[in-house]
Amino acid sequence: MQLAKLKEQVKQQQLPNHIAIIMDGNGRWAKKHKFKRIMGHKKGVETVRKIVEISGEIGLKYLTLYAFSTENWRRSKTEVDYLLKLIIETLDKEIDELVEKNVVIKFIGTDKGLSHSYRDKIESTSQKSWHNDGLHLNVAMNYGGRRELVEAVQKIGRKVKSGEIEAADIDEKLISAHLYTANMPDPDLLIRTSGEYRLSNFLIWQSAYAELWFTPVLWPDFTQKHFLEAIWDFQNRERRFGAR
Ligand code: IPE
Ligand code: IPE
Ligand code: MG
Repeated sequence: MQLAKLKEQVKQQQLPNHIAIIMDGNGRWAKKHKFKRIMGHKKGVETVRKIVEISGEIGLKYLTLYAFSTENWRRSKTEVDYLLKLIIETLDKEIDELVEKNVVIKFIGTDKGLSHSYRDKIESTSQKSWHNDGLHLNVAMNYGGRRELVEAVQKIGRKVKSGEIEAADIDEKLISAHLYTANMPDPDLLIRTSGEYRLSNFLIWQSAYAELWFTPVLWPDFTQKHFLEAIWDFQNRERRFGAR
């Protein structure tokens, strides 16, 4: 089906509130083309642009992109340095257009391991978009689902200790409210590219009932059409939430 037609079709049905994507396969894409791994990441940024663009066009509310995990520090220093630099440079380059397109950009993840100046820079740059009310674009940067839960438990523990709340007050709602994604809907659709079938520590609490969509396509080859196909597929699934 043509892109325009698919787009119309998708817009006529209820959209997922929140789509989360594990953007995987940059390294393999580079290898396939006999480039260095970092070229795959560079190419991957172009896919990010296209996916953010179409998300805005169809009126999606929340998009969360996995950019760098707490486990990605295990990669070579050259690759880690390149990725950190690429993320900040891309933000710098795109921020004005994102602001203009009514996008709200937020970084979710831990400060641990990042320099103060790096964290300050991404915060202050993304702050420029915080008055907007269009697409909420979350960049999961230095993100790990287990780390997120550890930090939530620490925050809650401090509140119990100070007497602000009691242990018996701790429920699912309270835990959700102490995650990086506080006040956001849980992802309804989680996409992973590159033919890997795992969560890799991504939104492990929030994705408890997400619909999963996998494709062998490598992230740099992922198109707007693939994205719409995933949404269309989602729209034709039956979600039961344990009810029957
Ligand atoms: C995903 O691509 C991007 C990041 C993890 C930052 P990879 O770099 O994991 O690519 P593969 O999995 O090695 O192909
Ligand atoms: C997950 O991909 C992290 C990001 C996409 C940022 P990885 O390539 O790091 O995950 P594993 O190693 O295949 O689980
Ligand atoms: Mg990978």
